[in-house]
Amino acid sequence: MEIVYFNGGFLPKENVKISPDDRGFLFADGIYEVMKWYKGFFYDGESHLQRMKRSLKEIRISWPGEDSFLNFAAELIRINNLTDKYALIYLQVTRGASPRSHSFPDPAVTPTVYAFAKEIIPSRVLPLQGVRVMLKEDIRWSRCDIKSVALLGNILSLQEAQDKGLSECIFVRDGFITEGSRSNIFFVIDGTIFTHPGNNYILSGVTRKNIIRIALENGITVVEEALPETKLEFVQEAFLTNTSAEISPVTELGGRIVGTGIPGPVTRMLREKFDAEIQAYKG
Ligand code: PDD
Repeated sequence: MEIVYFNGGFLPKENVKISPDDRGFLFADGIYEVMKWYKGFFYDGESHLQRMKRSLKEIRISWPGEDSFLNFAAELIRINNLTDKYALIYLQVTRGASPRSHSFPDPAVTPTVYAFAKEIIPSRVLPLQGVRVMLKEDIRWSRCDIKSVALLGNILSLQEAQDKGLSECIFVRDGFITEGSRSNIFFVIDGTIFTHPGNNYILSGVTRKNIIRIALENGITVVEEALPETKLEFVQEAFLTNTSAEISPVTELGGRIVGTGIPGPVTRMLREKFDAEIQAYKG
């Protein structure tokens, strides 16, 4: 039986009751977080906690229990017998239930907090393979830095990519590459890594942050500058990052083969270093 976390307690998933007045349901008025369990630890749980707290602050939800996240997440893993497995924790916090009105409930209501753990079978692309992605105008709002549950722009775009047999949709805003529908994107040109700066046009990934650190530790220059679409022809390597898939080499982008069509040396090195860090990780 799947046990989930709901408003301060653990219970079977089928016993969760969420009001139709919940503002998450009515307005997508809430935030979420996803972190990964690696057979014994959460990778950089602290950064996920801090990002979750920042998202709450940015949309002005006050959840007094926010600091308990890592503890109940670990408990969810334990109760669901996932300790020696790979798993994702999904957490969602909404502004709570209140009769529909655009304004915030006044006085504020208790936020709705829901989290579950899900086993994943790691299915990364093989070392010499990559993913094919499309390019499309960024149709999302301009606060992509908030991990909002309002993901319609993301899901419509991803579906468009998948309907074309592609793995991801990469957004272009005003001629500059921002990120993917569910990942950050990096480019390599002449040994230097380029990625969009961590501002309101992207979700600043925890994986992104750690990959930048690992690249710098290994002597690679990282430039946090948005790449114009017009420079894509000079890109020798590209890769996506996110919590679940970690680093995915991109071998075809917007109909153009990237570099030689197989993952390049910088991407391969970063994957090896990331794997080594996971192996040595103490949590
Ligand atoms: N998504 N950008 C977007 C739009 C994302 O949705 C994600 C992750 C990222 C990468 O963030 P991180 O490295 O912290 O996972 C960037 C998660 C996996 C999701 O929505 O399920």
